[in-house]
Amino acid sequence: MTRIVSVEAWEVLDSRGDPTVRVRVDTGDGNGRFTVPAGASTGAHEAVERRDGGDRYGGRGVREAVAAVTEELAPVVTGRPVTDQAGIDEALVDHDGTDDLSRLGANAVLGVSGAVAHAAADAADRPLYESLAPESGPGAMPLPMVNILSGGLHAAAGPSIQDFLVVPAGAETYPEALETVWAVRRAAADRIADGEHPPPVADEGGFIPAVPDAAAAFDLLAGAVRDAGFEPAPDDVAFAVDVAATHFYDPARDRYTLGGETLDREAMVDRVARWVDDYPVVSVEDPLAEDDWTGWTRLADRVGDRVQLLGDDLLATNPDRLGRAIDASAANAALIKPNQAGTMTRARRVLERAQAAGWSPVVSARSGETCDATIADLAVGLDAGQIKIGSLARSERLAKYNRLLGIDRAYDGGFAGGEALAGGW
Ligand code: PGA
Ligand code: ZN
Repeated sequence: MTRIVSVEAWEVLDSRGDPTVRVRVDTGDGNGRFTVPAGASTGAHEAVERRDGGDRYGGRGVREAVAAVTEELAPVVTGRPVTDQAGIDEALVDHDGTDDLSRLGANAVLGVSGAVAHAAADAADRPLYESLAPESGPGAMPLPMVNILSGGLHAAAGPSIQDFLVVPAGAETYPEALETVWAVRRAAADRIADGEHPPPVADEGGFIPAVPDAAAAFDLLAGAVRDAGFEPAPDDVAFAVDVAATHFYDPARDRYTLGGETLDREAMVDRVARWVDDYPVVSVEDPLAEDDWTGWTRLADRVGDRVQLLGDDLLATNPDRLGRAIDASAANAALIKPNQAGTMTRARRVLERAQAAGWSPVVSARSGETCDATIADLAVGLDAGQIKIGSLARSERLAKYNRLLGIDRAYDGGFAGGEALAGGW
């Protein structure tokens, strides 16, 4: 039995240049490393990321989280069997003592948890996707939803809506899906470029378009899809959107401010339903604010049988919130972000619970990433069926897409394709 012999942590910088936590776990049989990602459009119900405050790095340093790993969490896990991920994660959460991991920081706890997963794979001399998989084995290559146009909190300008994405639902393999998206992204760049400069990109590598509203962004996307030789259609190149509505909802006025418009709940539901009617939109993430349960259930009643309704801020990869959403039929798909959950085991349980309820899980990156590619292995290992990484640009995104290309070469699990989408597509 391979045991953990030491745990180290240090501060590194992520794709926004902000500090984040990297952890290395050593066993008698190798080691594992994991680097924690960070969101910008974070939800209120996520496990809490710990930042130092003060002047260093504008308050965004993570030295306290690093110290929490080396001083408090390392002694908790040292000596434990590295394959006991669930037991280790439980001990980490118990030692923190809070549900949202706010005492030590979810960035400290997940850092250790993720590095343990890698160390266990290394000790067994197996790839991570295999070592994470249940006894039945790893799943299919996930269908990617890929950011083409960005706005919201991820872009200095652009639309209020955070991501306009394409879903290569007509592709038959994962490599073909990437080729399709590459062609669409290139065509979108040609439409946006002013002839002199390449178009600016946002945090996840999507272009920042000067469009007056969502309809214009969808039209631009449809044009790019056609320019690339595909059809904007649910079974060829479909659309997805991450509205990230929490971030333009004003709780004091109970109103959504979308571009120049002020919409009440009904109008917001109508608007989203109209996008689903007018465009080949197959997935809608966070169409309403994180605590607007009324709005979510109304929208689910209207369009939940024909579109994927994907909870990100709504669910925050939290088992209780997922349970409530399943009971209320408030959505039909769950975004899985390990750092919202705070441990690999919690993320896994949320994913498995979503699957058991007939919901579709979508494993997701954060807007602040590094070249850590753990989520690629997680998506295949647990047969999520879908993955959301950002655009086909910037090395912190490509690290995951490329890891999936490597897995696709090594392992013949098929491609999840359009059938992975919830909502009857
Ligand atoms: P975030 O964005 O990492 O900034 O939260 C990703 C998302 O909203 O899906
Ligand atoms: Zn989101």
